[in-house]
Parts: sequence; structure tokens; C-alpha cells
Amino acid sequence: MKTPKLGLLLLMGCFGLTAGILGQSVGGVAYPEGYRAWTHVKSMIVEKGHPLFELVGGLHHIYANSRAMQGYQANPRVFPEGAVIVFDLLEPVVGNNAVVEGKRKAVIVMEKDSRRFAATGNWGYAVFEGDGRRAVEINVNSCYECHKGAANTDFVFSSFRP
Ligand code: HEC
Repeated sequence: MKTPKLGLLLLMGCFGLTAGILGQSVGGVAYPEGYRAWTHVKSMIVEKGHPLFELVGGLHHIYANSRAMQGYQANPRVFPEGAVIVFDLLEPVVGNNAVVEGKRKAVIVMEKDSRRFAATGNWGYAVFEGDGRRAVEINVNSCYECHKGAANTDFVFSSFRP
């Protein structure tokens, strides 16, 4: 096994992950092939001092597949089976009076499937190594526990920016 890079180790630490790189899927959630061509939901830069900093400090973009877009636009907001949402986490690089996108730190995924993921609010949770596409072992309950805070919007925190 390749030695994980420092950034990955830090990220794994942040997620309370046990050391270990799995295959291209984890807990039944597959790498979201082609997500860069999906709908961009929103972006955010999480800086030091923000409650999410330890977990996902950096620049992230959120992407939704077409089923997830149905969920973002539904009222009340309920996501259909097969909805996949990607949290694409990049290193922000500051310089020349600009913030630009640096290397990818992780590809973080939620997939709606009430049959397979009933125990975690009908959503599967997974984290993939930056550009390596390999799944990182996570404690899905830690994801679920925090995402319960968005239970009234089907466990999804973000909203689509029109
Ligand atoms: C401490 C709380 C917390 C934990 C723990 C957490 N998240 Fe999130 N997550 C958030 C918040 C807040 C957002 C919304 C960010 C935004 O609006 O840009 C979010 C957004 C997401 C999104 C985009 C969909 C959405 O809900 O907006 C995915 C995918 C995601 N998280 C996956 C995970 C996974 C996988 C884990 C576990 C490894 C995890 N999260 C752990 C708080 C958390």
C-alpha cells in the first residue's frame, strides 16, 4: 500500500478515520464518476475558526446529479432514490491578491438509497482520496450524527444557489 500523503492523513484524522485505504467504493458508495459535469450547487471557503474547519478546511464546491437536483428543487425537500451529492474539497492557494484552486484534498460523497442505507437516514456516506479515487475508511455514524442537524431537509445542509 502506498503511504498516504500528509494532507490525507490530516483529513483522515479530522474525520476520525481509522487508517486504511480501501478500493474504489466504500460501504456500497461508488466513486462518483463524471461528477465534474454535474450541476454545481454552491461553493464555500471554510477558514480557521469556522466550526467545519477541522473537518473540511479549504475550498469546496458541491455538485448534484440529476436526481439530487430534483431533491434540491422539491418542496418539501425530499431527495429521490439514486440522488448523489459530491463535496469536492480543494486546497485554497492564496497569492497575487487572489485565491485560486490548489490540489484536491478529498472527494466526499452522499448517496440516497433507502434499502442499503436505512441505518443512516437512507443516505450512504463515503470519502475518497484527493485525486487517487480510492475510498478512505470512515466512521459513517460521525457523518450521520452531524447531518441529523439537517433532518428536516432530508439530511442535506446545502441549498442550490439559483
Ligand atoms: C460537524 C458536522 C458535519 C460532519 C461531521 C459531516 N458533515 Fe457533511 N456537511 C456539513 C455541513 C454544514 C455541510 C454544508 C456545507 C455547505 O453548505 O457548503 C455539509 C455538506 C456535505 C455534503 C454536501 C451535501 C450537503 O449536506 O450539503 C456532503 C456530500 C457531505 N457533507 C458528506 C459528509 C460525509 C461523507 C461525512 C463523514 C465523513 C460528513 N459529511 C460529515 C456538516 C458535517
